[in-house]
Amino acid sequence: MARKVLRTKLCDMLDIEYPILSAGMGPTLIGEKTGAPVQLVVAVSEAGGLGVLGGAGYTIDELREEIRKIKKMTDKPFGVDLLLPNKLVEVPGEVGAGPEEIPLSQALAFIPQEHRDWLDKIKSEMGLPDVDLMVQMKTTTMCPKEAVRVCLDEKVPLFCAGLGNPGFMVAEAHSLGMKVLGVTGNSKNAKRMADAGVDIIVAQGHEGGGHTGRIGTMALLPMAMDAAAPKPVLAAGGIGDGRGIAAALAMGCQGVWMGTRFLATKEGGALDINKQRILESNDEGTRVSQAYTGKTLRASYNKFHDLWDSAGLAPVPFPMQVLISSALMAGFIETGKLDYVGGLAGQVSGLIKEIKPAGQLLEELVEETVEILSVTLPGSVIVK
Ligand SMILES: Cc1cc2nc3c(=O)[nH]c(=O)nc-3n(C[C@H](O)[C@H](O)[C@H](O)COP(=O)(O)O)c2cc1C
Repeated sequence: MARKVLRTKLCDMLDIEYPILSAGMGPTLIGEKTGAPVQLVVAVSEAGGLGVLGGAGYTIDELREEIRKIKKMTDKPFGVDLLLPNKLVEVPGEVGAGPEEIPLSQALAFIPQEHRDWLDKIKSEMGLPDVDLMVQMKTTTMCPKEAVRVCLDEKVPLFCAGLGNPGFMVAEAHSLGMKVLGVTGNSKNAKRMADAGVDIIVAQGHEGGGHTGRIGTMALLPMAMDAAAPKPVLAAGGIGDGRGIAAALAMGCQGVWMGTRFLATKEGGALDINKQRILESNDEGTRVSQAYTGKTLRASYNKFHDLWDSAGLAPVPFPMQVLISSALMAGFIETGKLDYVGGLAGQVSGLIKEIKPAGQLLEELVEETVEILSVTLPGSVIVK
């Protein structure tokens, strides 16, 4: 059967066949596996979409290696996603004004004594092994300037900032032939990023997995498009099948950025327990919590949410809360307390009933979307 055609201007801009991006997804907080690993990126890009590596869980050296692996495995365009801690943006650095690194020596000073006391209490009550607060300290999120430099040196076709405004590196990225994408949950930041020269804006609604804002996707998209115009906007948050993609395109989006649906694929990098939670989930199976990173973040509901709520502690500002949650997660996994292990996932989990190869999923998404836009919609809506 001939391949379906589903194109928008985004396809010309990124030199891809379909306007479907698999979202950048970082690790399951323990640094062992990443949500969007090389295999997922390659599968999606080879199938005609654009795969985005979740760079947040790697060390600097690993990030470089993973990018080089992708280049060896495909000559199609791909992206790399990093988290740029917001409060550290605007500090002069070697890549224009960008996020500054947090010196390792100062990291522990960000964690108040009462939080450490709580960790010790949980550790002894639950019989957890020694909690290593530094387990995440060498990841790209803690040294974003260096990580951005790797992406520039490697001339990654699409640089993606899942948090923070990547405007500081746009000029250099463009001079190297790269494009820059920024993710936001409100129209104010959509405009800020568009004004800063960012090429593509992802507007992610409250429904989405991972860090999430307060505005639902349906309300956010038209406002983000108005704010970012004429820059292309991609829809994110709650898109799991061709119905969601068709709706986003009908609203005027140039494409979609899908996380949870691509996480639950053969190549998606979640722990087995997290994939299982997605498959078993219904539409109420996820919750938003600051327990993971200090920012509001959506994950499959698990007992860690209640444990953190019962602590009565204020979250430590991003990204330092990650040190606490990662240390606990590592302990829960090591001792088999999987009821307390959380995976980032969106409300669309309730729609996902099967783990498929990512390439097959992409093909099906395209077919469903084309069918809706070319057959179902014209057959069910009368317009004059
Ligand atoms: C497991 C997982 C990990 C994520 N990690 C990141 C990340 O490291 N960086 C980022 O920009 N967004 C991250 N996100 C958010 C996604 O990039 C995307 O915006 C979101 O999944 C879209 O909503 P959806 O899950 O409803 O498709 C993550 C999402 C999930 C589900």
